[in-house]
Amino acid sequence: MTQQTDQFKKVISHAKEYGFVFPSSEIYDGLSAVYDYAQNGVALKNNIREYWWKAMVQLHENIVGIDAAIFMHPTTWKASGHVDAFNDPLIDNKTSKKRYRADVLVEEYVAKIEAKIEKEVQKAAKRFGAAFDEAQFRATNPRVLAHQENAEAILKRLGQSLEKEDLADVKALIEELEISCPESGSREWTDVKQFNLMFGTKLGASADTAMDLYLRPETAQGIFVNFLNVQKTARMKLPFGIAQTGKAFRNEIVARQFIFRMREFEQMEMQFFIPPGTQKEWYAQWKENRMKWHLALGMGEEKYRFHDHEKLAHYADAASDIEFRFPFGFKELEGIHSRTDFDLSSHEKFTGKKLQYFDPERNENYVPYVVETSIGLDRMFLAVFSNSLTEEVLEGGATRTVLKFPYALAPNKAAVLPLVKKDGLPELARTIVEDLKWDFQTVYDEKDAVGRRYRRQDALGTPFCITVDHQSLKDQTVTLRERDSMEQKRIAIQELKAIIQAQVSITSLLKQI
Ligand code: GAP
Repeated sequence: MTQQTDQFKKVISHAKEYGFVFPSSEIYDGLSAVYDYAQNGVALKNNIREYWWKAMVQLHENIVGIDAAIFMHPTTWKASGHVDAFNDPLIDNKTSKKRYRADVLVEEYVAKIEAKIEKEVQKAAKRFGAAFDEAQFRATNPRVLAHQENAEAILKRLGQSLEKEDLADVKALIEELEISCPESGSREWTDVKQFNLMFGTKLGASADTAMDLYLRPETAQGIFVNFLNVQKTARMKLPFGIAQTGKAFRNEIVARQFIFRMREFEQMEMQFFIPPGTQKEWYAQWKENRMKWHLALGMGEEKYRFHDHEKLAHYADAASDIEFRFPFGFKELEGIHSRTDFDLSSHEKFTGKKLQYFDPERNENYVPYVVETSIGLDRMFLAVFSNSLTEEVLEGGATRTVLKFPYALAPNKAAVLPLVKKDGLPELARTIVEDLKWDFQTVYDEKDAVGRRYRRQDALGTPFCITVDHQSLKDQTVTLRERDSMEQKRIAIQELKAIIQAQVSITSLLKQI
């Protein structure tokens, strides 16, 4: 087993064992690529959502939020292009009968080439020690350059074939690269076909009158169809944004990798409406702003990179992903798209209604352009969770498992632990919980020895443990233990709130953006 898959297996089992994520309908053996958030998971998810919402809506005078319905008029999806163009190229293996996304098979092949490059770099770093110049090695080593060139050529060809809808060439590429089925090892492939990812459903009771609907595959269209409603009622002037978080649904074929790619998931999207001609500048600004939002979490600059798209979606004139280093490699976490006036113009055509803005400075009406930022909440959850899961070897050789969440995102901020279950310690501990719970999620835990309770809270990612002992009864002080350093300090009970608050508030993250 590789180190990467080993780490990812730990992520999945820790998420279940500690009440973060459960497989959906597990007692019926689960439902593929559908998951439920458990008691701690929902708290982490809510905290991520709050961080995003505050960064978008609270910090920007010119961004407002909405919450549109999941069901939308079916013509919405004709206008948005999803009925005709929201497809994945699929290929079946004739031996295993397994279905794959053809582009993912090729991308996984390229990921293996990239892994070879990383191996070369690691080997060289070991060989040269402190004198190693990684940038120079990457730019000059013939083996690295050959791998790099090969990977780029393959991705370029894939991009061009998909762009031209040349599915025969995608199949030819798979055959030329001798890609075999991960399950059967066979290279017997069917032709590549397009498959629409939207889930259909029906509205209405009678079979004759029921209307065919789709579950929304993105939240963005709920914003576009409300553009004028919001602009008028909130009296917004361009540039302005509309933000929304909510469920989206896609009949994903390759629904693997836990909550990375789900069939029901949540998006956090913001459409920024701008005058035509200013999209390049706003696109650059939003790329920068969104990267700052990620970096403020302190998970490490080296975990992120931009990936500018060669193959653009049907609505975009520029697009970039913020990729994150998941346990299975760098993958898309968020998309920033310059969507032109595609969506609003198309809704104008299909509805016959004007979706325009009168610009008093230009003294003209026009359909605004849009720059969109779109991030999957579940994917962000996986980024935070997998990055935080750490195993440490302590002095004496014991290990501890810690979820080193950014403090502001941790499900519980403090755990109050009476040293023993008698002598009035539980009562004092309860009064501390009663006092702190108004400001942050606080838990009470009296079961097991205090050392085990510390380990339990570490494994849940709780930043602070407050231990109440006999001295607390005498002088109203407690021990405050910090999760990452395990440092313990004696603190007056009345100081607790201010000390904890200073370190766990979302405000401290927001100030860094
Ligand atoms: N409105 C634009 C849009 O939907 P997208 O790149 O298809 O663009 C945006 O999706 C984000 O939504 C992705 O970067 C990813 O974080 C998340 N996402 C997309 N499909 C997903 C899935 N099946 N499961 C979980 N998250 C998904």
